[in-house]
Amino acid sequence: MTVEPNELLQIAVRIAGGAADLARQMRDEGVTGITTKSSATDVVTAADRAAERYVREALRDSRPGDAVLGEEAGESPGKGAVRWILDPIDGTVNYLYGVPHYAVSLAAEVDGEVVAGVVRNPVSGEQWTATRGGGAWRGEVRLVGSTVTELSQTLLATGFGYAAARRVHQARVVAKLLPIVRDIRRFGAASLDLCFAAEGRVDAYYEKGLNLWDHAAGGLIAAEAGLRVGGLSGAGAGPDLVVAAPPAIWEPLQDALVRLDAAGGP
Ligand code: IPD
Repeated sequence: MTVEPNELLQIAVRIAGGAADLARQMRDEGVTGITTKSSATDVVTAADRAAERYVREALRDSRPGDAVLGEEAGESPGKGAVRWILDPIDGTVNYLYGVPHYAVSLAAEVDGEVVAGVVRNPVSGEQWTATRGGGAWRGEVRLVGSTVTELSQTLLATGFGYAAARRVHQARVVAKLLPIVRDIRRFGAASLDLCFAAEGRVDAYYEKGLNLWDHAAGGLIAAEAGLRVGGLSGAGAGPDLVVAAPPAIWEPLQDALVRLDAAGGP
């Protein structure tokens, strides 16, 4: 039986909307259940866990048998071709501090290919969606990305991992990029960085060390907005590097990232 990307998107939008409402309501009531994961700065809250539980239960009701990969509860194998990829709260540090820039990110893969994705900011209500081949959208607005043609004019978003050793390397890379681009932005939620790139709110984005749940939905949205999305030197987007850039600056940005060994280090 074929699975329609649009059907999966409708399910994703409905469920991500419920999870976003839950996360926002829990934020309004005060952040609780704060623990740490990979390092002392890598936090998780009761809301991350509750939003993930909500999405998993809703997916079980709508599409029993699908696999789910989620940031907080890991991989649950399924029986068919569909796997859901979830970050219940991307930008947890922003969430913790009350910075209104975090998102629920939910993507659907069929046979290993992401075909539908939604990223929703629960505070602003902004929602970005895409289906493979169906374009990228914020509400009714079709997204086309930036038309920048020079690296020196590029507003470049990035992010940093939670491990101190990785940050040392990332800081060296960003210090060398800063003088050769328009400016750097570090907003704190990778999925939203990719949606901002899709929308032209930044020109391009790169980051080392992302997990699939950080970039599955946003990567599709950026690609469907006409950006090139991948890793370094022909590699796919993955933990070594995720890059999203308009075609005209893809090569110069790749050259700079290769020269600075952006995919290297711990
Ligand atoms: C993090 C955010 C951040 C990025 C980190 C991610 P989380 O996700 O997306 O912007 O720089 O690499 O881990 O931990 O808030 O879900």
